[in-house]
Amino acid sequence: MAKHVATLACTHHPFYFKATTALPDQQMPQAAEWKHKVEAYRDTLARAQPDILVMIGSDHFHQIFLDNCPQFLIGKAPLYDATFYNEMREFGIPKYTLQGDEDMSRFLHQSLMDQNFDFAFSNELKVDHSIVCPIITVRPQNDLPIVPIYTNIFAPPLHSPRRFYDLGCAIRRAIADYPSSKRVAVIGTGHLSLELGGPRQFMETGPDPVFDRQAIEWLRSGNVEAILENVTHPSMEKSGNATHGFLNFILMLGVAGSEGADYVDSLDLFHTMEAYFTWYPKERAA
Ligand SMILES: [Fe+2]
Repeated sequence: MAKHVATLACTHHPFYFKATTALPDQQMPQAAEWKHKVEAYRDTLARAQPDILVMIGSDHFHQIFLDNCPQFLIGKAPLYDATFYNEMREFGIPKYTLQGDEDMSRFLHQSLMDQNFDFAFSNELKVDHSIVCPIITVRPQNDLPIVPIYTNIFAPPLHSPRRFYDLGCAIRRAIADYPSSKRVAVIGTGHLSLELGGPRQFMETGPDPVFDRQAIEWLRSGNVEAILENVTHPSMEKSGNATHGFLNFILMLGVAGSEGADYVDSLDLFHTMEAYFTWYPKERAA
């Protein structure tokens, strides 16, 4: 059976590439520290020596729009083009082609359906910065096949925090059942408190620094009970109009098995808190 070797959950700041590749005199003051933290985080993936990356992200109205909007979707393509025009123009993110793993996509799709998750699928998915940013940060050599999974965190009605957590648990079980000798890492990205286009956008900190600190502590300790007790759709809305990206962090806690994280780091950037978590699965008694 496949070996689940690491779970990584992090923010996906689209300006990282531009901020850290600009000429030194044009870089933001935090660029060197940001790069240092990201490179340290990258090592947590390399250490696990993965063969395949299962990647959880969310389309930002690039490919999926309101005419046909699935809650959960799995990519089943041999190759994925990446980076949309506005991401190149605004964020300076390069174009990428990511290799897919059709066999694992097929297996995960069936397994997740069998576990009562009605997944949409796409054989022609093009992925956006929610998938490409973690490639840039934790696997810039882009040398591993991926299985992309998209969740709807933008267009209400959204699934509950509990449903996101349960999906993470189902993904963990599906990987454990996959008949392969491959080493699998799961990488998921989302947001802490975030405001896009609203009155609290681009402040000195994220729109709700109290929530950000609390959320990091919950994830550090693997305290899913506290998250499910305290985090609701209205509470996320109160913390910032795009805070629903935290649902992907909740999902990743399910993938990790709601344990304390083995690696935690964060960076208070202007207008948002960056956060980086890694869990290494523990050997469990049969
Ligand atoms: Fe995003």
